[in-house]
Amino acid sequence: MNDMIELLQSHRSIRKFNSTPVTPEQLDAILGSAQMASTSSNMQAYSVISVTDTTLRQQLAVLAGNQAYVSECPLFLVWCADLHRFAQAVRQHADTPVTGNAENFLVATVDAALAAQNAAVAAESLGLGVVYIGGIRNNPAEVSQLLGLPQLVYPVFGMCIGMPDQEPLHRPRLPRKAVYHENRYTEARDAIESYDETVRDYMKERTGSKVDTTWTKEMAAKATRPRQHMKAFLRGQGFEIE
Ligand SMILES: Cc1cc2nc3c(=O)[nH]c(=O)nc-3n(C[C@H](O)[C@H](O)[C@H](O)COP(=O)(O)O)c2cc1C
Repeated sequence: MNDMIELLQSHRSIRKFNSTPVTPEQLDAILGSAQMASTSSNMQAYSVISVTDTTLRQQLAVLAGNQAYVSECPLFLVWCADLHRFAQAVRQHADTPVTGNAENFLVATVDAALAAQNAAVAAESLGLGVVYIGGIRNNPAEVSQLLGLPQLVYPVFGMCIGMPDQEPLHRPRLPRKAVYHENRYTEARDAIESYDETVRDYMKERTGSKVDTTWTKEMAAKATRPRQHMKAFLRGQGFEIE
């Protein structure tokens, strides 16, 4: 339809990068694109930290569940939800308390995600590959301490960026019917059943028939690994999560 839509629809996560560095110009374009994302009430309630220190990278790779590409990728960004700056701005003019209540938590998390996705698309438009790293929430307190995050800031996810050194298959998505509704939410169990078969075929192709699984099976497995520590961690950072 157009180049932008083609780019968006050809996304796939990249987990192997060659050693070509991301240039300062590329980083500037990526960050400039992130900064122009829509943002709730212009709060811009996020911060992004580029981790250039090799030792720190290795520590983060381990904390993220031993994901080697965190230390190996040319550029590693940590996207944080940030109400600290908002609180500072408010304090300049008012005694109104700023809390990490559920609404503010959502605002900051959404702002971080929107900026990050703009960055991801910008990077991909430059021929770079990206993968988000939610694994940093395996050990969020340690990650926050290493990055010096103040109260009311938390790491939402990391992002590896660099020149791709692999050509992974595109991961098929749910049938449109499962995610798109008109006027009213409708169940689409048949669409999920057919997606199970699509995922089974995809996984067989990706793994040379070593893995036989479906989307619903994967979701069931994921549900057994909830990050139960997030509530206590977020409360410790000043977010009022019940
Ligand atoms: C918030 C978020 C966190 C993610 N965390 C990880 C991660 O820690 N490690 C990883 O290899 N991929 C991670 N991913 C990538 C997803 O697994 C991937 O986007 C999804 O399986 C769809 O595949 P695709 O991006 O190749 O289309 C994450 C994606 C998102 C959006």
